[in-house]
Amino acid sequence: MAKLVDPWDHHDWSSQQYVNQWAEGQDKREVERKEIFLLIARTLSDDSQAALTILDLGAGYGALTQFLLKHFPNSTALCQDGSEEMAKLGRERMEHLTGRFDYVLCDFSKPGWRQKIKGTFDAVVSAIAIHNVRSPEIIKSIYAETFLLIKTGGLFLNFDRMTPSREDQLAWLQDAGFRDVQSFWDGGRRALVGGYRG
Ligand SMILES: C[S@@+](CC[C@H](N)C(=O)[O-])C[C@H]1O[C@@H](n2cnc3c(N)ncnc32)[C@H](O)[C@@H]1O
Repeated sequence: MAKLVDPWDHHDWSSQQYVNQWAEGQDKREVERKEIFLLIARTLSDDSQAALTILDLGAGYGALTQFLLKHFPNSTALCQDGSEEMAKLGRERMEHLTGRFDYVLCDFSKPGWRQKIKGTFDAVVSAIAIHNVRSPEIIKSIYAETFLLIKTGGLFLNFDRMTPSREDQLAWLQDAGFRDVQSFWDGGRRALVGGYRG
Protein backbone atom coordinates (compact mmCIF):
# COMPACT_ATOMS: atom_id res chain seq x y z
CA MET A 1 0.00 0.00 0.00
CA ALA A 2 1.25 3.52 -0.80
CA LYS A 3 2.76 5.51 2.09
CA LEU A 4 0.18 7.47 4.10
CA VAL A 5 2.17 10.62 4.70
CA ASP A 6 0.47 13.80 5.78
CA PRO A 7 2.55 16.58 4.23
CA TRP A 8 1.23 19.21 6.66
CA ASP A 9 1.63 17.39 9.94
CA HIS A 10 4.50 15.14 8.87
CA HIS A 11 2.75 12.03 10.05
CA ASP A 12 4.21 8.85 8.64
CA TRP A 13 1.57 6.25 9.42
CA SER A 14 3.42 3.58 7.48
CA SER A 15 6.49 3.71 9.74
CA GLN A 16 6.54 1.29 12.67
CA GLN A 17 8.77 3.64 14.65
CA TYR A 18 6.52 6.64 14.00
CA VAL A 19 3.34 4.71 14.82
CA ASN A 20 4.78 3.35 18.09
CA GLN A 21 5.97 6.82 19.15
CA TRP A 22 2.60 8.35 18.22
CA ALA A 23 0.75 5.66 20.18
CA GLU A 24 2.98 6.20 23.24
CA GLY A 25 2.30 9.94 23.16
CA GLN A 26 -1.42 9.38 22.63
CA ASP A 27 -1.60 6.86 25.51
CA LYS A 28 -0.74 9.67 27.95
CA ARG A 29 -3.60 11.78 26.58
CA GLU A 30 -6.15 8.99 26.20
CA VAL A 31 -7.91 9.91 29.45
CA GLU A 32 -8.88 13.29 27.93
CA ARG A 33 -10.96 11.52 25.29
CA LYS A 34 -13.08 9.39 27.62
CA GLU A 35 -15.85 11.96 27.85
CA ILE A 36 -16.21 12.35 24.12
CA PHE A 37 -16.01 8.57 23.62
CA LEU A 38 -18.83 8.21 26.17
CA LEU A 39 -20.88 10.79 24.31
CA ILE A 40 -20.30 8.84 21.08
CA ALA A 41 -21.46 5.62 22.78
CA ARG A 42 -24.57 7.24 24.27
CA THR A 43 -25.42 8.85 20.95
CA LEU A 44 -25.19 5.48 19.20
CA SER A 45 -27.61 3.84 21.63
CA ASP A 46 -28.91 4.27 25.16
CA ASP A 47 -29.11 0.47 25.43
CA SER A 48 -25.69 -0.85 26.44
CA GLN A 49 -26.87 -4.39 25.60
CA ALA A 50 -27.49 -3.42 21.95
CA ALA A 51 -25.83 -5.73 19.41
CA LEU A 52 -24.45 -3.10 17.08
CA THR A 53 -22.25 -3.61 14.05
CA ILE A 54 -19.74 -0.77 14.10
CA LEU A 55 -17.26 0.44 11.49
CA ASP A 56 -14.41 2.60 12.81
CA LEU A 57 -12.81 4.66 10.01
CA GLY A 58 -9.11 5.43 10.49
CA ALA A 59 -9.33 3.31 13.63
CA GLY A 60 -5.60 3.42 14.38
CA TYR A 61 -4.76 1.12 17.27
CA GLY A 62 -8.45 0.96 18.15
CA ALA A 63 -8.87 3.40 21.04
CA LEU A 64 -12.47 4.21 20.12
CA THR A 65 -13.29 0.65 19.07
CA GLN A 66 -12.03 -0.70 22.41
CA PHE A 67 -14.11 1.83 24.30
CA LEU A 68 -17.26 1.00 22.31
CA LEU A 69 -16.81 -2.79 22.54
CA LYS A 70 -16.46 -2.46 26.31
CA HIS A 71 -19.50 -0.20 26.54
CA PHE A 72 -21.56 -2.48 24.24
CA PRO A 73 -20.53 -6.04 25.20
CA ASN A 74 -22.79 -7.59 22.54
CA SER A 75 -21.42 -5.51 19.69
CA THR A 76 -18.74 -6.12 17.07
CA ALA A 77 -16.49 -3.78 15.12
CA LEU A 78 -14.59 -3.56 11.88
CA CYS A 79 -11.56 -1.30 12.12
CA GLN A 80 -10.58 0.36 8.85
CA ASP A 81 -7.16 1.93 8.48
CA GLY A 82 -4.59 2.56 5.77
CA SER A 83 -1.61 1.72 7.96
CA GLU A 84 -0.50 -1.86 8.37
CA GLU A 85 1.56 -0.81 11.39
CA MET A 86 -1.50 0.67 13.12
CA ALA A 87 -3.48 -2.49 12.38
CA LYS A 88 -0.65 -4.62 13.79
CA LEU A 89 -0.58 -2.56 16.97
CA GLY A 90 -4.39 -2.65 17.22
CA ARG A 91 -4.50 -6.43 16.88
CA GLU A 92 -1.95 -6.72 19.71
CA ARG A 93 -3.73 -4.22 21.96
CA MET A 94 -7.16 -5.76 21.40
CA GLU A 95 -6.13 -9.38 21.73
CA HIS A 96 -8.57 -9.72 24.64
CA LEU A 97 -11.36 -8.80 22.20
CA THR A 98 -10.43 -11.41 19.59
CA GLY A 99 -13.52 -12.54 17.71
CA ARG A 100 -15.31 -9.22 18.21
CA PHE A 101 -13.23 -7.08 15.87
CA ASP A 102 -11.32 -7.29 12.65
CA TYR A 103 -9.19 -4.93 10.56
CA VAL A 104 -9.54 -4.00 6.92
CA LEU A 105 -6.71 -2.13 5.23
CA CYS A 106 -7.59 0.51 2.64
CA ASP A 107 -6.87 4.13 1.89
CA PHE A 108 -10.02 6.23 2.27
CA SER A 109 -8.57 9.01 0.14
CA LYS A 110 -8.80 6.75 -2.91
CA PRO A 111 -12.23 6.61 -4.60
CA GLY A 112 -13.86 3.19 -4.29
CA TRP A 113 -12.24 2.35 -0.94
CA ARG A 114 -15.59 1.22 0.42
CA GLN A 115 -15.58 -1.77 -1.93
CA LYS A 116 -12.95 -3.34 0.34
CA ILE A 117 -15.55 -3.32 3.11
CA LYS A 118 -18.19 -6.02 3.08
CA GLY A 119 -21.74 -5.29 4.21
CA THR A 120 -23.38 -2.35 5.92
CA PHE A 121 -23.25 -1.22 9.54
CA ASP A 122 -25.54 0.08 12.27
CA ALA A 123 -22.97 2.74 13.05
CA VAL A 124 -19.90 4.24 11.42
CA VAL A 125 -17.60 6.19 13.73
CA SER A 126 -14.30 7.96 13.25
CA ALA A 127 -11.89 9.79 15.55
CA ILE A 128 -9.26 12.31 14.48
CA ALA A 129 -8.64 10.56 11.19
CA ILE A 130 -10.54 11.93 8.20
CA HIS A 131 -8.96 15.42 8.42
CA ASN A 132 -5.66 13.76 7.50
CA VAL A 133 -6.67 13.83 3.84
CA ARG A 134 -6.98 17.64 4.00
CA SER A 135 -8.72 18.13 0.67
CA PRO A 136 -12.39 19.20 0.96
CA GLU A 137 -13.17 17.26 -2.22
CA ILE A 138 -11.75 14.07 -0.74
CA ILE A 139 -13.54 14.58 2.60
CA LYS A 140 -16.78 15.03 0.67
CA SER A 141 -16.17 11.80 -1.23
CA ILE A 142 -15.37 9.96 2.04
CA TYR A 143 -18.71 11.14 3.44
CA ALA A 144 -20.50 10.00 0.27
CA GLU A 145 -18.94 6.52 0.39
CA THR A 146 -19.54 6.27 4.14
CA PHE A 147 -23.25 6.95 3.61
CA LEU A 148 -23.47 3.78 1.49
CA LEU A 149 -21.88 1.71 4.26
CA ILE A 150 -24.64 2.49 6.76
CA LYS A 151 -27.86 0.56 7.24
CA THR A 152 -31.11 2.46 6.95
CA GLY A 153 -31.67 4.20 10.27
CA GLY A 154 -27.97 3.93 11.13
CA LEU A 155 -25.72 6.74 12.25
CA PHE A 156 -22.35 8.25 11.27
CA LEU A 157 -20.39 10.12 13.93
CA ASN A 158 -17.16 11.89 13.09
CA PHE A 159 -15.09 13.29 15.96
CA ASP A 160 -12.45 15.30 14.17
CA ARG A 161 -10.66 18.54 13.52
CA MET A 162 -13.09 20.81 11.76
CA THR A 163 -11.06 21.96 8.79
CA PRO A 164 -11.88 24.22 7.11
CA SER A 165 -14.96 24.71 9.36
CA ARG A 166 -17.72 22.89 11.22
CA GLU A 167 -20.32 24.53 9.00
CA ASP A 168 -18.59 23.15 5.91
CA GLN A 169 -18.49 19.65 7.42
CA LEU A 170 -22.20 19.82 8.24
CA ALA A 171 -23.01 20.96 4.69
CA TRP A 172 -20.90 18.14 3.21
CA LEU A 173 -22.71 15.57 5.38
CA GLN A 174 -26.02 16.95 4.19
CA ASP A 175 -24.83 16.79 0.56
CA ALA A 176 -23.79 13.16 1.09
CA GLY A 177 -27.41 12.33 1.93
CA PHE A 178 -27.38 12.21 5.73
CA ARG A 179 -30.47 13.44 7.56
CA ASP A 180 -30.75 15.15 10.95
CA VAL A 181 -27.19 16.35 10.41
CA GLN A 182 -25.89 18.06 13.50
CA SER A 183 -22.99 18.93 15.72
CA PHE A 184 -23.34 16.70 18.78
CA TRP A 185 -20.45 18.42 20.56
CA ASP A 186 -18.42 21.51 19.84
CA GLY A 187 -14.90 21.78 21.19
CA GLY A 188 -13.70 24.66 19.02
CA ARG A 189 -11.12 23.24 16.62
CA ARG A 190 -12.58 19.78 17.17
CA ALA A 191 -16.20 18.72 17.06
CA LEU A 192 -18.41 15.67 16.89
CA VAL A 193 -20.56 15.89 13.79
CA GLY A 194 -22.78 13.36 12.09
CA GLY A 195 -26.12 12.32 10.77
CA TYR A 196 -28.45 9.42 10.04
CA ARG A 197 -29.08 7.38 6.94
CA GLY A 198 -32.82 7.77 6.50
C1 LIG B 1 -4.50 10.55 14.47
S1 LIG B 1 -4.67 8.83 14.10
C2 LIG B 1 -6.20 8.45 14.93
C3 LIG B 1 -6.36 6.98 15.17
C4 LIG B 1 -7.59 6.60 15.98
N1 LIG B 1 -8.83 6.90 15.29
C5 LIG B 1 -7.57 7.31 17.30
O1 LIG B 1 -8.36 8.26 17.51
O2 LIG B 1 -6.77 6.94 18.16
C6 LIG B 1 -5.14 8.89 12.40
C7 LIG B 1 -5.34 7.51 11.77
O3 LIG B 1 -5.86 7.70 10.44
C8 LIG B 1 -5.19 6.80 9.57
N2 LIG B 1 -5.21 7.38 8.23
C9 LIG B 1 -4.65 8.54 7.83
N3 LIG B 1 -4.86 8.74 6.53
C10 LIG B 1 -5.57 7.67 6.09
C11 LIG B 1 -6.09 7.28 4.82
N4 LIG B 1 -5.93 8.04 3.74
N5 LIG B 1 -6.79 6.11 4.74
C12 LIG B 1 -6.97 5.34 5.85
N6 LIG B 1 -6.49 5.65 7.07
C13 LIG B 1 -5.79 6.80 7.19
C14 LIG B 1 -3.79 6.66 10.13
O4 LIG B 1 -3.17 5.49 9.68
C15 LIG B 1 -4.07 6.68 11.62
O5 LIG B 1 -4.27 5.40 12.13
